[in-house]
Amino acid sequence: MKPVRLDKFLADAKLGTRSEVRQLLKKGLITLNGEIVKKPDIKVDPASDRVLFDGKEIFSEKDVYFMLNKPAGVVSATEDRREKTVLDLFSSEDRRRDLFPVGRLDKDTVGLLLITNDGALSHRLLSPRRHVDKTYLVHLDRPIPADAEKRMEAGLDIGDEKPTLPAYLEVLSETTARITIQEGRFHQIKRMFHAVGCEVIYLKRLSMGSLALDPALEEGCYRRLTPEEINKITSDS
Ligand code: URA
Repeated sequence: MKPVRLDKFLADAKLGTRSEVRQLLKKGLITLNGEIVKKPDIKVDPASDRVLFDGKEIFSEKDVYFMLNKPAGVVSATEDRREKTVLDLFSSEDRRRDLFPVGRLDKDTVGLLLITNDGALSHRLLSPRRHVDKTYLVHLDRPIPADAEKRMEAGLDIGDEKPTLPAYLEVLSETTARITIQEGRFHQIKRMFHAVGCEVIYLKRLSMGSLALDPALEEGCYRRLTPEEINKITSDS
C-alpha cells in the first residue's frame, strides 16, 4: 500500500472530515507506532504502520474482500513460523494486518478462499447453524462405490460425536465428483470419502455460498470481489 498523509488516512477511515481529524490530532488522540502525532501531513504506510485513535487501531478502508485461488503448499493462516501462508501471496500494496482467510483449506487443497477483514461476515459464513453450501471438485484414488451418493446424503459416521449433515455428491466419472457440504469439519471431505472406501488425491474448492471461484483466476492469484459479489455474499449468509 502507498504511504498517505495521516489526515487523509484518518478521513478515509471515516473518523471525520479532514478538518475534524485535524482537531483529533491537535488534541493528541492519535498515535503512530506508539507515539502521539499532531502533524496532519506526516506520511503513514497503511501496510506496516500502526495508527491508534483513543487506543483503538484504525484501518484505512473499512471492509475489504479478496478471492484467492489457493495453490497447494501454502497454509490457510495469517502467520506461520515455518510455512508459507496464504497472506504471503499478497502484494505489499494489498497486504494489511487485519486480513485473514475465512475458514481453512488443507495445505494440499486448492481453490476458492475468501480473504477479508470483515469478522462479522466470516462468523456468519462459518457458523454451523447457517448451513452455507461449499462445493468441491474431488479426484479419488479408485472408483467411487455405487452406494456413496446415498450414504453421503444420509450422513456418515466419520468418527466424530455426530454423523455428518447430508452432503450431495455428483459423480462426474469413475474417480471424479463434485461434492457439496454445509459444514467445515477438520479434513471433512477426506474423512467422508475414507468412510466410503476411497482416498482423496486432489481437492479443489469451487464455491462458498453465492461466491464462485473465478475460472480466469490462476492458482496463486487473487483479486478483489466485485461489488455484485460483495452484495451477494454479504446478504446470503
Ligand atoms: N475437506 C477436506 O478434507 N479438506 C479441505 O481442505 C476442505 C474440506
